[in-house]
Amino acid sequence: MDFENIYIEEENNLATITINRPKKLNALNKRTIEELHVAFKELDEDRDIKVIIITGSGEKAFVAGADISEFANFSVKEGRQLSAVGQQHLFDFVENLSTPVIAAINGFALGGGLELAMACHFRVASSNARMGLPEVSLGVIPGYGGTQRLPQLVGKGRAMEMIMTAGMIDSDKAFGYGLVNHVVSSEELLPFCMKIASRISNNSSVAIKHAIKAINAGFKYDADGYSVEIDAFGNCFGTDDFKEGTSAFLDKRKADFPGS
Ligand code: COA
Repeated sequence: MDFENIYIEEENNLATITINRPKKLNALNKRTIEELHVAFKELDEDRDIKVIIITGSGEKAFVAGADISEFANFSVKEGRQLSAVGQQHLFDFVENLSTPVIAAINGFALGGGLELAMACHFRVASSNARMGLPEVSLGVIPGYGGTQRLPQLVGKGRAMEMIMTAGMIDSDKAFGYGLVNHVVSSEELLPFCMKIASRISNNSSVAIKHAIKAINAGFKYDADGYSVEIDAFGNCFGTDDFKEGTSAFLDKRKADFPGS
């Protein structure tokens, strides 16, 4: 697939996906969602890629939401499908990816933009970022997982207030809420994320894959996180990474994980 609305840069074991529709504040239209699906799938299948960072082009926006012009005339059926397909192709897909995904929030993260950031495994914001779920101001609700993931991250009361008021919060408040892990300057945002990514990439990607699965299971109504953890923990013992990690520790050397 030729990408029109995103581009990917790869360096060492790290890939950065940039959503590139700056004139529309990187709003997520149907094509961008499809391109992101393909990009995440390909990068996840690439064994050399250990961490993915996603950000928005320009200094103004990460993503200013789903593209309102595309769904303004939708019927009930089309609205439901928009939500279902988006969740399946992008938001749930990213959350359940084996490769760690960091959202580098470089400006407005609104509606689908904040929902995308929340689907990532964790978030870092620049100090000028502003976040919110303004959907009720448009007569609709968050449909890409926002009603579920925001309360998971910030607590039910804060999520209720943010969604009901349709308001925006700044980076410091988002940090206080636990919505973002770090706040740094705009210039530092990508280098900072790359530093974290580099630390992650020194560890076993197989073990990280199992950890993501177990952590996510705890937030699913139809899964028992503790049982998933037991299975995932056990499975680690059958991996080459486990053999290498434990041998390296006992040999007092740095592990060189084969990733299998
Ligand atoms: N969907 C489609 N287009 C969008 C968009 C979105 N979610 N967000 C911004 N854009 C477009 C604007 O229509 C405008 O396009 P134009 O130049 O062709 O008119 C362009 O991006 C720039 O946005 P603009 O509103 O002029 O910038 P601003 O600095 O005045 O305001 C925001 C910035 C983010 C406050 C404002 O764009 C906004 O409220 N966007 C919608 C946010 C939202 O409700 N998202 C949830 C959608 S479910």
